[in-house]
Amino acid sequence: MDAYELLFRHVATRVPAELTHRVGVTALRAATPVLPAPSADVAPVEAMGLRFANPLGVAAGYDKDAEGVRGLARLGFGAVEVGTVTARPQPGNPRPRLFRLPADRALVNRMGFNNAGADVVAARLAALRQRGAGTVVGVNIGRSKTASDAVADYRYSARVLGPHADYVVVNVSSPNTPGLRDLQGVDALEPLLAAVRDEVGATPLLVKITADLDDAGVDAVADLALAQGLDGIVATNTTVARSDLASAPDVVEAAGAGGLSGAPLVGPARAVLARLRARVGERLTLVSVGGIDSGAEARARLEAGATLVQAYTGFVYGGPAWPRRVLRELAAS
Ligand SMILES: Cc1cc2nc3c(=O)[nH]c(=O)nc-3n(C[C@H](O)[C@H](O)[C@H](O)COP(=O)(O)O)c2cc1C
Repeated sequence: MDAYELLFRHVATRVPAELTHRVGVTALRAATPVLPAPSADVAPVEAMGLRFANPLGVAAGYDKDAEGVRGLARLGFGAVEVGTVTARPQPGNPRPRLFRLPADRALVNRMGFNNAGADVVAARLAALRQRGAGTVVGVNIGRSKTASDAVADYRYSARVLGPHADYVVVNVSSPNTPGLRDLQGVDALEPLLAAVRDEVGATPLLVKITADLDDAGVDAVADLALAQGLDGIVATNTTVARSDLASAPDVVEAAGAGGLSGAPLVGPARAVLARLRARVGERLTLVSVGGIDSGAEARARLEAGATLVQAYTGFVYGGPAWPRRVLRELAAS
């Protein structure tokens, strides 16, 4: 156990998870100028016409408002997926809304897309591009809670944010915006993806799906992605399932509703990845996310067909040295 893990173990029982996160992002911004540049032990990845310095990215939700991109690049990440950003700024759900399940190396969140909104994030990304982000920057967009017309809402975000993104991800898989996951059905998804494609033009476009789709649902999204000329799929988001957890039932119950992330997602995320790769062959970029917490697991995903990998919860438990450790392990594997 390193110093961060020891500290985390003590802090975890006393400080609300969201406050720890806020402090972490602020510290990252402050430390960016003095962080050493990442080393290049792992082979770069060419995908979607982009060059990723390495295959390990930060999953959406960690840097929702594009505040810490350069710092995250310095920690070693080959990509940062900012967002989810919605057309309008919104506060998200009431706190507390982020919980730790340490016995499972998992988190439960019901953040509800708290973010500064497309206009503010677009301005930040424009400034970032001027200075050089130091990494590939994806932008993940979602539906505003109060939007009555989902297509128009996503269209606005795509128009405003697309010009500042290396790639765009349409998120239809978070469990914390009522009705959002219904957009994963092909009838709803088709016009949505067409509208976003129309706005972003040649910018690579991906869709992000949940771990909770059944096999037919995964196949349907894969087929639609191919039919609509998408560039890739990000799989998976969190799960609403609570099966086979090591945490005591009262701890799980106290966390309440929301998306479960971390180690319990390993099985579902692997299964969805295998199914997608079998279905689409080499035609799409697949970004595997869910429970990756070591170089060995990252390697396993790459060997199972992932083009790139991402993590959130493993990074939270592992701390600032975690990306470099994973990259070291990857290089040695
Ligand atoms: C606190 C928290 C907030 C998240 N917010 C978003 C989000 O805004 N958009 C999104 O697409 N995924 C979001 N996610 C899901 C992650 O991007 C990722 O798909 C999921 O956590 C599984 O990966 P992991 O096991 O490495 O955490 C969030 C996850 C967590 C833990």
